[in-house]
Amino acid sequence: MDQQVNKLREFLRDAKRVAVITGAGVSAESGVPTFRGKEGLWRDYDPTVLATPQAFREDPKLVWEWYDWRRGLIATCLPNPAHEAIAKLEASCEDFLLITQNVDGLHHLAGSQNIAEMHGNIWRVRRSAPPHREWEDRTHPLADIPPRDHDGTLLRPAVVWYGEMLPSQETAKVERFFSDPPDLVIVVGTSAQITWLIGYVQQFRATGIRVVEVNLEPTGLSGIVDLTIRGRAGAVLPKVL
Ligand code: OAD
Repeated sequence: MDQQVNKLREFLRDAKRVAVITGAGVSAESGVPTFRGKEGLWRDYDPTVLATPQAFREDPKLVWEWYDWRRGLIATCLPNPAHEAIAKLEASCEDFLLITQNVDGLHHLAGSQNIAEMHGNIWRVRRSAPPHREWEDRTHPLADIPPRDHDGTLLRPAVVWYGEMLPSQETAKVERFFSDPPDLVIVVGTSAQITWLIGYVQQFRATGIRVVEVNLEPTGLSGIVDLTIRGRAGAVLPKVL
């Protein structure tokens, strides 16, 4: 692993504009469960009854109970050395964007600034009917499930569910950043099963952008990236910096 870590160090030395893409593996060492794999959430819970607009229409109470439970769990978690290393990397780059699939907000807590939260944030709520206002709400446990706005409109977690569009503000950030190709993209702790992510990485490779993966296990990206580092994000990333 040390050889690969040195290689990434070398890549970083030459890089001015860097993007990092993260997934649940980055928060695993903070105690936030991942989705897939042996102890992943999707082993015990069915995404189709918890993470789709249809599931919310059919049973908002069940969906909110699950999100209230996850909020409680995440509230006890702190950023780990991987989050901290990513925040440090941002501070040392001329231009930097962090693209995350995580909704836990731990990158913010670690001090990362320029973030595109592609799947939203579990600490924000949104009205489910117009006007679709959205705001931060860190209440836990929620007093009433499902929570409602003053006029009785159901609130929903401001996260992206299966079948929904990505938030346009966040995709615009990403498109803006990549309109001038970065020198390096580091993909950390994701099983890379989400279409937009695979699409981006294929696009980067096609335009000759260097891509490095940090993951405990091989993924669908491992064969197409320039370098794969097999290890814990919380051990590898601080070493690189
Ligand atoms: P997954 O649970 O699919 O994948 C987690 C990845 O992290 C796996 O590849 C693990 O090998 C790796 N991993 C675990 N611990 C690690 C560690 N300490 N260091 C490095 N790697 C580690 O999570 P995501 O890929 O983030 O979407 O899942 C993507 C999306 O699918 C989520 O945002 C969620 C889910 O369904 C929605 O809910 C819309």
